[in-house]
Amino acid sequence: MDKFVIRGGNPLVGTIRVSGAKNAALPAMAASILTEEPVILENIPDVRDIETERRLLVSMGAEVELGYGRAHHRTTLCCRKLVNPEAAYELVKTMRASTLVLGPLVARMGRARVSLPGGCAIGARPIDLHIKGLEALGARITQDHGYIEASAERLKGGSIFFDKITVTGTEDLMMAAVLAEGETVMENCACEPEVSDLAALLNKMGARIQGAGTPTIRIQGVDKLHGARHRIIPDRIEAGTFVIAGALTGGDLMVAHCEPAHLGALLEKLQQCGVNIRTNGDSVRVIGEGPFAACDMATQEFPGFPTDMQAQYMALATQAEGISIITENIFENRFMHAQELVRMGANIRVEGPRAIVRGKTPLSGAAVQCSDLRASASLVIAALVADGETILDRVYHIDRGYERIEEKLRSVGAQIRRIGEMFPRRAAAS
Ligand code: EPU
Repeated sequence: MDKFVIRGGNPLVGTIRVSGAKNAALPAMAASILTEEPVILENIPDVRDIETERRLLVSMGAEVELGYGRAHHRTTLCCRKLVNPEAAYELVKTMRASTLVLGPLVARMGRARVSLPGGCAIGARPIDLHIKGLEALGARITQDHGYIEASAERLKGGSIFFDKITVTGTEDLMMAAVLAEGETVMENCACEPEVSDLAALLNKMGARIQGAGTPTIRIQGVDKLHGARHRIIPDRIEAGTFVIAGALTGGDLMVAHCEPAHLGALLEKLQQCGVNIRTNGDSVRVIGEGPFAACDMATQEFPGFPTDMQAQYMALATQAEGISIITENIFENRFMHAQELVRMGANIRVEGPRAIVRGKTPLSGAAVQCSDLRASASLVIAALVADGETILDRVYHIDRGYERIEEKLRSVGAQIRRIGEMFPRRAAAS
């Protein structure tokens, strides 16, 4: 298992480039199920979750072609012959977003068998709203041996009201409804940029979707979709992670190839904390002059402060003067990083959905463990300002969603290196 060794103290200076959004790329890849023709996706990040989704699509019979050289962020998917409409537990347990194939499989093949994901490190994360929505479109659903089976001759347009805002739920049902007979109206939808990006791709494929990016989405079903070429939006969470890292290290960092309009709530909050930020076109320049002021923050659905930036914000709060109350409203168990930050010297008390952070306390390098993707990012940020060396274990979590983060950070001055297993197991024969 790889580890990161990070020595803190260097300001991040220079330009760092943001990759394509993992959470937009995953549904876009699932959308390829909806057509027999090739779907060409540009700006696909080179991260583990994308690799998992490729494996999932290949297991169903998809042909996948990866670009190389300058085109190595291009993936071409062709689902001409789908033979196996199933997402097995082995894949779903490593990546919950595998459930995104449920809607497109029922829409295209009339049936799907998808493993129920179960809980994960950040909360229970049920998929009941995906299931309820499919039923509203006329699918028959059964549950057996830990799998959901859905079937329908052809889905029929219907009304869907989401009791709770769900990002992949909105995406899954949007993909189901595009091939349904008649009109579907979905209300209380997620407004995240990743939902709008998926709708843009689907419309290029011939779908008729209106209102994506607002709470009400209207979809006129069509008989068939065709191939398309689409560029995935930049990763707003990767961009935000770099902005916080630049600020906290006292650097002067240009976060390039991002979409500042997707970062509104985060940048506003950081400005309240006293971070010097300038946006220009597709880049954000952050100058970490400090001192930073404590500011309360509560996560919300887009356009609110993203839950995927909560952990990284907590790292910043440990270095802000005063008390910051951080409230997590989306997931019930997303404070696993707090205890690891405490091990590095932070003063944090968790009370239910709130974390009370008292700053500023000096951080010192320690051996810490990643518990999930964004928690890992917060520990990397903390390590970059800690005194001495931090050894970060289980970095496979970070590899799920950040493309070669250690190389990117090193290129702007961070002291970070990856080490593999120190004592590899001997080959069985020896
Ligand atoms: N929920 C239900 N029932 C459902 C679906 C969701 O109760 O059927 C609840 C969840 O338990 C949670 C809330 O609704 O409390 C919101 O969950 P949502 O469905 O929006 O989360 P998701 O779609 O599973 C996506 C991202 C997450 C991100 C969340 C929230 C992808 C692939 N994943 O997850 O990203 O945290 O939206 O913005 O898009 C990450 O990248 O690290 C990550 C976890």
